[in-house]
Amino acid sequence: MTRQILVTSALPYANGHIHLGHLVEYLQTDIFVRFQRLRGHRVAYMCADDTHGTAIMIRAEKEGRTPEALIAEMSEAHQRDFAAFGVSFDHYGSTNSDANRQVAGGIWQKLVEQGLVVERAVPRLFDAEKGMFLADRFVKGTCPRCKTPDQYGDACEACGSTYPATELIEPRSVFSGSAPQLKDSKQFFVRLEPLQQKLTEWTQQSGALQPEVANYLKGHFLDKPLQDWDVSRPKPYFGFEIPGQPGNFWYVWFDAPIGYIASTVEWCAKTGQDVDQWWRNPDCEVVHFLGKDITYFHTLFWPAMLHCGGYSLPKRVHIHGFLKVNGEKMSKSRGTFVNARRYLDFLEPEWLRYYYASKLGPKIDDLDFQTEEFVGKVNSDLVGRVVNLASRSAKFVEQTGLSASYPDDGGLFARAAAMAETIAACYEACDFREATRLVMTLCDAANEYVEQKAPWTLKKDPTKARELQDVCTVVLNLFHQIMVYLTPVLPGLSAKAGALLGSAMDYWSLAQQPLVGRPVAKFTHMMARVEAARVSEMFTPEEPTPASIPAAAPSPTLEKEPLQPDITIDDFLKVDLRVAEVLEAKAVEGADKLLQLTLGLGGDVRRNVFAGIKKAYQPEQLVGRLVLYVANLAPRKMKFGVSAGMVAAAGTDGEVYLMSPDSGAKPGQRLH
Ligand code: 2FM
Ligand code: ZN
Repeated sequence: MTRQILVTSALPYANGHIHLGHLVEYLQTDIFVRFQRLRGHRVAYMCADDTHGTAIMIRAEKEGRTPEALIAEMSEAHQRDFAAFGVSFDHYGSTNSDANRQVAGGIWQKLVEQGLVVERAVPRLFDAEKGMFLADRFVKGTCPRCKTPDQYGDACEACGSTYPATELIEPRSVFSGSAPQLKDSKQFFVRLEPLQQKLTEWTQQSGALQPEVANYLKGHFLDKPLQDWDVSRPKPYFGFEIPGQPGNFWYVWFDAPIGYIASTVEWCAKTGQDVDQWWRNPDCEVVHFLGKDITYFHTLFWPAMLHCGGYSLPKRVHIHGFLKVNGEKMSKSRGTFVNARRYLDFLEPEWLRYYYASKLGPKIDDLDFQTEEFVGKVNSDLVGRVVNLASRSAKFVEQTGLSASYPDDGGLFARAAAMAETIAACYEACDFREATRLVMTLCDAANEYVEQKAPWTLKKDPTKARELQDVCTVVLNLFHQIMVYLTPVLPGLSAKAGALLGSAMDYWSLAQQPLVGRPVAKFTHMMARVEAARVSEMFTPEEPTPASIPAAAPSPTLEKEPLQPDITIDDFLKVDLRVAEVLEAKAVEGADKLLQLTLGLGGDVRRNVFAGIKKAYQPEQLVGRLVLYVANLAPRKMKFGVSAGMVAAAGTDGEVYLMSPDSGAKPGQRLH
């Protein structure tokens, strides 16, 4: 029976690039999706960028552009990376879309009608100078746990702990630098307790969750009354304003999962389908793939929203663990935090698809990328056991093609054909490790046959031409079966196998019928071996290129402004470069290029600077950001007042880009 399956991967945040950790999820979802398509089912694979929230807003502001410009660029980068790894979405949307606003509005209205939205005053931090409530990311202070200064109000970047912004030590507003006060804010909550029974049934009895997830929810959340969920944030916030509630926005996690539906809405509009056939149809299976860190959003809040909105509850939520590299957490400083782009600079995407598949079981365990194991699996499994079957046989039948009838192979083909449903059950259960292990046992049997029959020896004896053709027909058929079974994991290699043997590789049951009496194309290289050194190089932190090594290609920028003669370190140290915080910024009457900046150097130390940056920056964009300040440039008297030093900026042809230190730097710190 043809099934209808809607599959999703968690929506990646638009504020960062896709990395190897993300790919654990997208590759496993894609393998599942490709498997279901190969089985002939009707599948929709939906995804989108998760675009809302304060992190995006702050980054856009820092970069001096709109959040919309930032998310457009990231969406393109994400889609380019996914495509390079063969991730085959049917549609890739954005949570900042009209469709998402509409679907979110519809669900919100249903929640309101069902009396599940409550409004409560909650004490929140308030910037009295600016007259606004401060989202967690707009408050900085000392971490209440590890005491590292200059941490955001929701989480500490030094120790990783999360806490309410009200617990920060010596909090201050990033806008005005003033100490925030506590003030009651109107917040909207969704009540979950009335849905407790429904959620308990779904999580514990529907079979949608892995047993360990169901138990975790029972032991941590469902054993007591479910808490109301705080779903609003006061302005300023990059997101959707709640209809009828000016100044209040849906919290990013409210409209993020709704993006799954919105993406389907867009896809259906594009392809002339009815979205309700996917989301309000009991015969359609909704399957979500996601990481363990976002379990409760998808297993409590999300089903609650779906239920109240009249949508189907997920048939399955498949949760996976995190990626480690050589036994440790991925780390930027150790060089193991590798972006998809960097991986592609060193290694082949299909190697990763196979490696991950060979490690992914049905449980939530973390996946450890081990360099040696990766090299072993690529070189011995893929090149040595799979591709070798074709490379040791195809060339001998290039002229003759396959035998007209399938020869006696001692039952090898029949045994591999009989394994189809067992392997399929492994894919269905997301036990890709077992699926690939079973396929490798087929490879071993096929390779044993090749060794035994030694076609390279038969080739030398012209009287054995018929036998040679039969042997190669068997080997290539076993190779074909293996490649059909591996098509979900290795679509690129499968396409090459298909081209060699004239097979479409588009249906699971192709592995049931031997290929006979057909031509065999000229064998061309199918897959390279991996060198361990390349993997290690990829995991080595990038060294900045020394300034003295000239770039290979001429730089048009340097041509406009050539590099200056060398100076000594002492020369350099004469310039006192400091981190400074822009406390105030305003236009200067009568000056069309200048902004007047008040810079803070820590404590009460302030400097007045006139900077020629008005064309590139709005004053309100600058307040709260850190800049690099030339502190010991002799003060200069100008028409409008005295300018004490200057802010560092780069640019050619009239462009201006302010320099910013990394987050964590403190006003007053010196550059050396
Ligand atoms: O954790 C994350 O990366 C989120 N951006 C996932 C969102 S999934 C869905 F709910 F949108
Ligand atoms: Zn901390």
